[in-house]
Amino acid sequence: MTTRWIATGLCHDLPNGVVMAGRWHDTELAVWRSASGKLAAWKDRCPHRGMRLSHGFVRGETLSCIYHGWVYGTDGGCKHIPAHPSLVPPKAIRAEAFSCVALDGVLWLAPADVSEAPPRLGGLRPVRSLSLTCGLAALMAAESALAGKDILRGSVTFGGHAVEICLLVQPKPDGITLHALCGASADLVAVSRWLEALRFKAEEKVAE
Ligand code: FES
Repeated sequence: MTTRWIATGLCHDLPNGVVMAGRWHDTELAVWRSASGKLAAWKDRCPHRGMRLSHGFVRGETLSCIYHGWVYGTDGGCKHIPAHPSLVPPKAIRAEAFSCVALDGVLWLAPADVSEAPPRLGGLRPVRSLSLTCGLAALMAAESALAGKDILRGSVTFGGHAVEICLLVQPKPDGITLHALCGASADLVAVSRWLEALRFKAEEKVAE
């Protein structure tokens, strides 16, 4: 399945009041949740002087840049400039927004003009994210039970049980990040260990 949506993390990794770095293909993003849980994703570049907004901090329903403290609302508009406290910031000062959706325990990113909905993964449980220094080809070579491109799925047997596995692939400059989900009745610790072993095997494939 091909989609413009890319998973950038699992919902449990982004609690309310927290900002984290995200990525949509080569575009670096700041992804954050306000105190009330509203999600936003913007290009990771402050409209003032380009500081990474993912280095900023969330206060209530706003995100503040760590450099000169400009304050942005969840709509991306600048609300306050500390050096000019009585100034109403012009509407043109705004962070460049991406679409960000939390669905089935996954944080999905896409350009703001995306028309389709994110893929549904109902019935699966989020496990964890992990980064690999190899590409998709090495991962597929390491585990033949998985099929797909951006979303790998398959039934994998370990510990004497067949477990449904779903891996969401996020490209990054030096490899891939996987966001893993599994069948509802699977043992999360066992799946997490299997993922570690898979990473080792896939990275070894590159070295062969
Ligand atoms: S660079 Fe962000 S407030 Fe100046």
